[in-house]
Amino acid sequence: MAHVLALDQGTTSSRAMIFDDAGRVCSSAQRELTQHYPQPGWVEHDPHEILSSQFDCARQAIAMAGLKAGDIAAIGIANQRETTVLWERATGRALAPAIVWQDRRTAQRCEQLREQGWSALVRERAGLEIDPYFSATKLAWLLDRLPDARVRAERGELAFGTIDSWLLWHLSGGRLHVTDASNASRTLLYDLQARNWGAVLLDCFGIPASVLPTVVDSIGQCGETDPEVFGAAIPMTGIGGDQQAATFGQCCFSPGMAKNTYGTGCFLLMNTGHEAVVSRHHLLTTVAWASAGEVCHALEGSVFMGGAVVQWLRDGLGVIERAADVQALAAQVPDAEGVVMVPAFTGLGAPYWDAQARGSVFGLTRGSSAAHLARAALDAIAQQTADLVEAMRLDGTGDLRELRVDGGAASNDLLMQIQADLLGVPVVRPQMLETTALGAAYLAGLGAGVWTDRGVLERQWVQDRVFEPQRNADWRATQRARWADAVACARNWRP
Ligand code: G3P
Repeated sequence: MAHVLALDQGTTSSRAMIFDDAGRVCSSAQRELTQHYPQPGWVEHDPHEILSSQFDCARQAIAMAGLKAGDIAAIGIANQRETTVLWERATGRALAPAIVWQDRRTAQRCEQLREQGWSALVRERAGLEIDPYFSATKLAWLLDRLPDARVRAERGELAFGTIDSWLLWHLSGGRLHVTDASNASRTLLYDLQARNWGAVLLDCFGIPASVLPTVVDSIGQCGETDPEVFGAAIPMTGIGGDQQAATFGQCCFSPGMAKNTYGTGCFLLMNTGHEAVVSRHHLLTTVAWASAGEVCHALEGSVFMGGAVVQWLRDGLGVIERAADVQALAAQVPDAEGVVMVPAFTGLGAPYWDAQARGSVFGLTRGSSAAHLARAALDAIAQQTADLVEAMRLDGTGDLRELRVDGGAASNDLLMQIQADLLGVPVVRPQMLETTALGAAYLAGLGAGVWTDRGVLERQWVQDRVFEPQRNADWRATQRARWADAVACARNWRP
């Protein structure tokens, strides 16, 4: 029996899981990652803690499964995307803390670039919005602020990478400086048509080509681990940004299939096949995966506040003790009785990209209770997702047939039912909710020949429950219109 090790390096934790060739979990280890908030709007990670936590988990998972490193057929990596690391090639030491995807320190620089008129070209070439979310302005910030960094970068002494590159560099003992196309497509520097770094984009963001990794396929061998790391050389045959990996783990292999991950944020990706659909409704065009010269694209909507709204009910308002309690509280009322929450705590992501919008609650009456707020919070998560689906439809992707779901909040039955009601399509939850790690394992297992084709994986995908829509189109239209009004008000509000 073959075993695949999946490394899932996420924003809040590092995790390692071992799967057998039937797609079953053999072991799992996880470590929380320290979050650093040195200034308002800044979010950092210690790159060396990322390495140590990830490698420790991997060693633990191998031991827990009763295996040795030599028994592992392949390693797959799924990683938090966009987070930016700059390191010294000679020593492998990071020059500064990693700037996390949530970090907004380059908001002004992005505004300047937009004012200079770069948006259309960047959207056309990179498929993305000019926003601090992505890596390019974070990297430029490091090159401009760290002593001698730009000069050293131009001399070829420094290396940039998203977390996949950073892990691969250290897993290979400094021999590999690579990233896969799905991660590259989150930097703002990758030209989707040229399928490589784009000279005009490098120029726009002021990035020297000498710092960039080589772009490789998501599926296929890119190297082996240095035996020093785990005790044996293990082939590394799968790489994917975590949301793309989750899309793969959900077996969304055909155009039109979509998954939504309900984590801290929500990330909805729809497979668009070979076509890189350039969005006219402020979604992102991204590489889903690349394999043997074939590139599969996706349209993506990223919402910044998903499960984080529930955390706010718990930590900010104190109306629930545990996040899981939100379902019982919200179920105390049949609906939110006109209360609408727009959770724009850090502005709004897709499809609004409004950094100035602020969280708002509308429609409060003397009878409004914590239960109504909890219900409105779940509505808000589902409404934001419905905004993304609507934008995709307007972009011409056709009607969604079903939405596959995963992530922590996907276990909330009430939220899933609200989602199905608002979308008017079935919401399908698989038994296996760790789809990110599973996707990394699938990418690697295909790359190593553990699985011969995707059909085998589709047969392993088992649904847990389908939530069928229970409301009619009139109800949906009323709810959506009320939400649109609330979003408009939240965007108009200026403190
Ligand atoms: O784009 C950010 C995304 O990759 C983060 O995912 O699961 O680490 O919160 P996660």
